[in-house]
Amino acid sequence: SDITVLDGIEKITGERPVFYKADVSVNADMEKVFNENKDAVAIVHFAAFKAVGESVQKPLMYYQNNIQGIINILSQMQQNGINNLVFSSSCTVYGQAELLPVTENSPILKAESPYGNTKKISEEIISDTVKSDKNLNVVSLRYFNPIGAHTSAEIGELPIGIPNNLLPFITQTAIGMREKLSVFGDDYNTPDGTAIRDYINVVDLAKAHVLSIQRLLEKKNLTNYEVFNIGTGKGTSVMEIVKVFETVSGEKLNYEITKRRPGDIEQIWADTSKANDILGWNAQESLENTIKSAWEWEKKLASLKTNKPD
Ligand code: WQD
Repeated sequence: SDITVLDGIEKITGERPVFYKADVSVNADMEKVFNENKDAVAIVHFAAFKAVGESVQKPLMYYQNNIQGIINILSQMQQNGINNLVFSSSCTVYGQAELLPVTENSPILKAESPYGNTKKISEEIISDTVKSDKNLNVVSLRYFNPIGAHTSAEIGELPIGIPNNLLPFITQTAIGMREKLSVFGDDYNTPDGTAIRDYINVVDLAKAHVLSIQRLLEKKNLTNYEVFNIGTGKGTSVMEIVKVFETVSGEKLNYEITKRRPGDIEQIWADTSKANDILGWNAQESLENTIKSAWEWEKKLASLKTNKPD
């Protein structure tokens, strides 16, 4: 991401996070971070690569960062007696599920992409590690498709280079940074032929982490490895997203239908009852407001660029 995110976090929370420029896949870097923060009570691990398409192009980069990263974090936690971890997992572990919506007990299929495989393997590494270490408690949150920005427009997505994900590509196209959106395939077996995902508001998603940390610190977890789906429970197609974007922004979006993207699945959405009932979490924000927040954020970024002195 970008160092300016720290300013946005400080504006929203009133606190500036302690920051290290470090590589999660380099154990010496993690050793330093952990050694200097021995009073930490929990870890939230966000330092993985996350783009399905990119992972197909650069599988080794994904395995190196995501797998070595979780190994380093777990081993540093053990060495420093830190017992609580919230891990960012992904709905991609379900691959193309036969039955929808997916529950946490749906089969974990062969991953469709190296990215999905890194999340599947990371969950296995966590599961094996908690079995061997009764002090360790982990919650894995299986994110569906996080989108949107904080409503203050102080923080939001900051893709480096050309965005891989749908929403930033849409907002960058509408603001004039990209010529047109490619809609990857309209020949899927879905009502309008475009692929279906469960798009979850990023602030709702953030709240699931707060609840997970509280659950771990209050020792309310039922087993020392728990997994929750974090989505809305509703599937939305790419073309439906385009239409909602056009409605909430008042902008006409330039797009074309192109071929399917390698590694993509056809459709997925979540059964979120476990997160609702056990974690006490619910998705609250509407798709319209969420997409609007992404657009407000893109406009804010554009205004910052315009006002920047040369
Ligand atoms: C969404 C849909 C594309 C770009 C993401 C995360 C991943 C994971 C799951 C956890 C797909 C289509 C996209 C574009 C398009 N979850 N699309 N044109 O691949 O579902 O994966 O959610 O965190 O980490 O990356 O998300 O936003 O790339 O794609 O038509 O230019 O939009 O084919 O159907 P994806 P995405």
